[in-house]
This record gives sequence, structure tokens and C-alpha cells, in this order.
Amino acid sequence: IKKIGVMTSGGDSPGMNAAIRAVVRTCAFHKIKCIGIYRGYQGLIEGDMVEMSARSVRNIINRGGTILKSARSQEFRTKEGRKKAHDSLVKNGVDALVVIGGDGSFTGGMIFNEEFGYPVIGIPGTIDNDIFGTKFTLGYDTALNTAVEAIDRIRDTASSHDRLFFIEVMGRDAGHIALNVGVGAGAEEILIPEEDLGLDRLLESLEKSRVTGKTSSIVVVAEGDKTGENVFQLAEYVEKNMPDYDIRVTVLGHVQRGGTPTCRDRVLASRMGVKAVETLLEGKSNFMVGISNDELNLTPLERAVKGKSEIDKELIRVSDIMTT
Ligand code: F6P
Repeated sequence: IKKIGVMTSGGDSPGMNAAIRAVVRTCAFHKIKCIGIYRGYQGLIEGDMVEMSARSVRNIINRGGTILKSARSQEFRTKEGRKKAHDSLVKNGVDALVVIGGDGSFTGGMIFNEEFGYPVIGIPGTIDNDIFGTKFTLGYDTALNTAVEAIDRIRDTASSHDRLFFIEVMGRDAGHIALNVGVGAGAEEILIPEEDLGLDRLLESLEKSRVTGKTSSIVVVAEGDKTGENVFQLAEYVEKNMPDYDIRVTVLGHVQRGGTPTCRDRVLASRMGVKAVETLLEGKSNFMVGISNDELNLTPLERAVKGKSEIDKELIRVSDIMTT
């Protein structure tokens, strides 16, 4: 392998820049070339790429977002699109690809590898932490800290006005963000798709809090939770059944995707970037780099895509105890 391509794909996450930097610098360390591909698979199809050196990634370890930009490419989902992408790699003399992204990005990489036998390594970059084969994804820790800080602020105003707040956090179909920030921010209830609390139990629990003297409350709702149709409908339902409560809804949204990455995300990104390049140099491919028990590991892309990342049952129990 003489030249490695690196790209970010799918939803961005804090720590992606630190991972790009690590990939570029590891290539420089091993004296091979590195090329940055803009806008994920779409940029690959269009041949939108630039040679990168150790110096071209200075001052980015602390920056949120991704300097290579990101996209969700429809064209890459077609056979013709993937053929164009492969042609573009061959034309530019790129021997292998490091894809930083989530499961959609890995599915693309896996199919690409199957069709062309092209070496691909994945680095999990998503705030959702919903990838099988790794305890942590890049950006998750930063998103947790951003969300907890926002909820702390909401708690101040909730308590001044004796209000009940429903706060929706991201996570797509997974409740990792909600469960962790719910425990970290001391929420009264945490609604996640992995556990069905049900509307009646929610009302019961809020009523219990009210009777025991609670005047303000925070309920954290994962965007994928199905207790209500959506967080607004859920709040309306509670308002109808508990008219004593003064209710407000906050959707944290994309604020959770931005911002300077935490030290933990930067260190993880640096470790994963080194591992990704060195795995390719060892002649291995079609793996995702992950971490478990603070040790890096490799999971076949197919397993990473098809496996289910389990919710932390022990933390659910902790949250049940904390919310009594
Ligand atoms: O996968 C990351 C994520 O932020 C999810 O939490 C969320 O459901 C989705 O992306 C939002 O996607 P978009 O930025 O395309 O609106």
C-alpha cells in the first residue's frame, strides 16, 4: 500500500477532525501518501480529493465538524455510482480507504469491498454510539457533555418556575445518549426505545414525584422513543392528564452534533486513526476499529453493520433507583 484515502461520511460528529489528523499523520510516519476525499462517497464519485501532508492537518484536533465535509450519497447506493467511485480511486492511485462514519457509511464500504475487493477500514464516528463492536464511537462523549450542560441550564429555569420539562435528545433509534445524559443530569424519568415505560407508568411516576413535594421535573426523551407519537404529543398528553403541571418542551437537536471535542474523544480518535492505517499496512481490511475495556479491537464490517449495540442494562437499573 502506497497511498491511503480518508473520508468522513454520514452525520458529522466531534472528533472526526482528530481522526483525520491521526490517519494523515500515521501515513506520514510510515512514509506513505494520504489523500483526503471531500463530502464522503459523493466526493469520491466526483473525484473531489486533495493530497494531505502532516502539516495540512495542523490546528484541527480541537475543531468540531469535519474539514473534509460530509454527505449522505444517494448515487453511491447504485452500482453505477460505486463503479465511478472505484474508477476515481484507481485513477488517483489510491490503494485503500479509511471511512470515518456510522453504520450507513460502513454498509457502503462493505459492499464496495465485496464488489471490487477494495481494502476498506472503518472508524466509528457518530454521536449515537449505536455501532456493534465498539463500546464508544467518536463524538458520543462530546455529545453527552453538551447535552448534560444544556439540561443543567434548563433545570435552573425549570426550578425557578416550578415547571416540568420534556427534553428530546438525539440518538436515532438508540437510547444511549438519553440514558446517559438522563442519569448524568438527574432526570426524573428517561424514555428510551429499548424500554417501554408506557404512558400510564409515566403519569404514575410523575404523580408520585408531585405528591412527594417535587415542584419541577426533567424528563429526558430519546428521539427514537415510542411512548408518544413525538415529544410534543407526549407533553400534551401529560398536560391534559395532569393540569397542575406547567409544561415546556425543548428539542436539543443539532447543538449536540457540534462543538469542540472532549479530550476523551480526541484521544480515542488519535488511537483509532493510528490503528486503522496500521491495520491496512498489515494487509488486513474490511474491518472496523473499535474499543472495549480500553483496548482497540477489530470487528468485520459486516458484523459491525448487522450486529446490535446493546443498551447498558446496569445503567437502566441505576436510573430506576435514582428516579424513585
Ligand atoms: O446519526 C446522527 C444523528 O444526529 C442522529 O442522532 C439523528 O437522528 C440524525 O443524525 C439527524 O440527521 P440529519 O443531520 O440528517 O438531520
